[in-house]
Amino acid sequence: MTDHLAPDAVVLETAMRRALELAARGPARGDNPQVGCVLLRPDGSTAAEGWHRGAGTPHAEIDALAQLGEGDATGLTAVVTLEPCDHTGRTGPCSTALIAAGVARVVYAVDDPGEQSSGGGARLLEAGVAVERGLLVDEATELVRRWLVPARRHRPFVTVKWASSLDGRAAAADGTSRWITGAAARQHVHEVRADHDAILVGTGTVLADDPSLTARGDGGELLADQPVPVVVGDRPVPAGARLRSHPRELVQLGGHDPEAALDALWRLGVRSVLVEGGPTVASAFVRDGLVDDYLVYLAPTLIGGALTALDDLGVATIDDQRRLRVADVTLLGTDLLVVARDDTRSTP
Ligand SMILES: NC(=O)c1ccc[n+]([C@@H]2O[C@H](COP(=O)([O-])OP(=O)(O)OC[C@H]3O[C@@H](n4cnc5c(N)ncnc54)[C@H](OP(=O)(O)O)[C@@H]3O)[C@@H](O)[C@H]2O)c1
Repeated sequence: MTDHLAPDAVVLETAMRRALELAARGPARGDNPQVGCVLLRPDGSTAAEGWHRGAGTPHAEIDALAQLGEGDATGLTAVVTLEPCDHTGRTGPCSTALIAAGVARVVYAVDDPGEQSSGGGARLLEAGVAVERGLLVDEATELVRRWLVPARRHRPFVTVKWASSLDGRAAAADGTSRWITGAAARQHVHEVRADHDAILVGTGTVLADDPSLTARGDGGELLADQPVPVVVGDRPVPAGARLRSHPRELVQLGGHDPEAALDALWRLGVRSVLVEGGPTVASAFVRDGLVDDYLVYLAPTLIGGALTALDDLGVATIDDQRRLRVADVTLLGTDLLVVARDDTRSTP
């Protein structure tokens, strides 16, 4: 029985932290999640480590088993950031590989949400492997949030971004908004764009600003990853609009329903979307509870007037305000980037 308790809780937690570090080495974007795995001997020492390097490559558990070489996995504990899959895709199921290798115990953090891939935990149990779930689940969920939200909700991950003055204005009285923030914040936005599959604005922004919506480097050059430009609203995008010469083909979605827009994008294969405004469209996503991350670039400037970053959210009384949690704050040049979340609506 003592064997069954080894390695102990402290060793397991240390191994899970290591597995999370390993997972983070994998690509953050793509169809597959970042996953790490540590194989422990009964005395708590590490026998092997592995991580997933992206779709089509071995899963973390298989990678770790391969590191054992001729070594035997009998009696080892596998510490994995995600429930081992039970699915034959481009690679075989990790559950059966762990069973075949003789692993005695599997400790994992997050349940696999996949319709086809989940069930690995149950299969391991059926085969007599000890299974424990939920170790460092918050940390592991945080790591794969961008993958987990789409997998669980069947819609793209939604980031809403705006730039505003310290008094919360997104434009001056004449509608001009270039530029509220400085060069460092604007460059950061380009990197954020490149990190999303699609970038979405309303027709109002297209007509007011004629944005190009490309992701560019600080020399103005196009970055390798270009998000698909998406416009929502019924007015046509003018023939001469800059968006018409975007390297990716423009997608225009008529109507005013954010959920329908996300549905259409999901069907096009979009798994993450950056909503860049303007205030009308951003407010619609917020109102409908469809925002996973808020990125607010706050410039130390005052504009005043009526053009606020968001318009009516249906908050009639202060008890209805949307209370967010600040996940991160960064100084970018002279501006502040606040990353915030609505934990009641966007927990995967
Ligand atoms: N500071 C910033 O971060 C920032 C970012 C972007 C824009 N801006 C500024 O924002 C201003 C434009 O604001 P805006 O609010 O008019 O732009 P918008 O949100 O881009 O566009 C609004 C238009 O989109 C359509 N639409 C799509 N979904 C909708 C919905 N759910 N509800 C209502 N309408 C919907 C409607 O047009 P149809 O009639 O065509 O359907 C609506 O008139 C400009 O001054 C621009 O410079 C600032």
